[in-house]
Amino acid sequence: MSAASPRGPATEPGTPSLDKDPRRIAGMFDAIAHRYDQLNHLLSAGFDRRWRRRAVAALDLGDGALVLDVCTGTADLAMTASRHQPAPRAVLGVDFAGAMLALGHEKLRSAGLSPIVRLVRGDACRLPCPSETVDAVTVGFGIRNVADTARAVEEMFRVLKPGGRLAILEFGEPRVPVLRSLYLWYFQRVLPFIGRRLSKHAEAYAYLPASVSAFLSPDALADLLRTSGFFGVRVDRLTAGVVYLYVGQKPVDT
Ligand SMILES: C[S@@+](CC[C@H](N)C(=O)[O-])C[C@H]1O[C@@H](n2cnc3c(N)ncnc32)[C@H](O)[C@@H]1O
Repeated sequence: MSAASPRGPATEPGTPSLDKDPRRIAGMFDAIAHRYDQLNHLLSAGFDRRWRRRAVAALDLGDGALVLDVCTGTADLAMTASRHQPAPRAVLGVDFAGAMLALGHEKLRSAGLSPIVRLVRGDACRLPCPSETVDAVTVGFGIRNVADTARAVEEMFRVLKPGGRLAILEFGEPRVPVLRSLYLWYFQRVLPFIGRRLSKHAEAYAYLPASVSAFLSPDALADLLRTSGFFGVRVDRLTAGVVYLYVGQKPVDT
């Protein structure tokens, strides 16, 4: 790829591009959508369901809440939120990848959740919601892919009602030395191999570990949430640091 390529800066051969141009990211997820859920559950050994339940529990949802799931993909986190008790009034999932949303629609129909979960196409950097209208915002493994992280956090802050909560799940890397080496071998070698074989997409599952390594550290993301106005920011390490859960609240007086 040349430096003048419209797909972003030049990369070493075999190194996945970290260009986060929205068309490129949406195209990549559209291309793997048909295998996305299967690979998620397989490559995380089923832990992804548990991580999503932890994120929804951290929202402390009251009766009849309106929940926004940003970067909803095939709607797994939106569906988890919709099953919370006390039940939300509605869940809105936003994503810019049409094929991911189409699969989400199918899943909602077969689970009988269409009346409560609505999916719309949109960008995390320009959320299709009026200010101060949602009680809680979730993001599952999406924030790392957004071209402008600070802008997306600003948008989530804007749409939250005063007192509303945010829960973000994102991949991390374990810190304990032996575990870290083992995990990085799995994450950087085994996972891209299996992902490439099953999804038939050469780059997406190499982009995953590369984008995690290049993303903000847990401390830096927590700082960004604080400087964007969230208070009570908490970072929970899940499954030895394979995943981090970030929770924050919008102040009542803003
Ligand atoms: C790894 S998937 C996560 C899907 C889902 N949240 C989950 O927990 O499985 C990331 C999703 O983020 C979406 N995405 C990335 N950047 C986005 C943006 N700026 N606006 C909307 N969606 C975005 C992608 O299209 C993709 O569906």
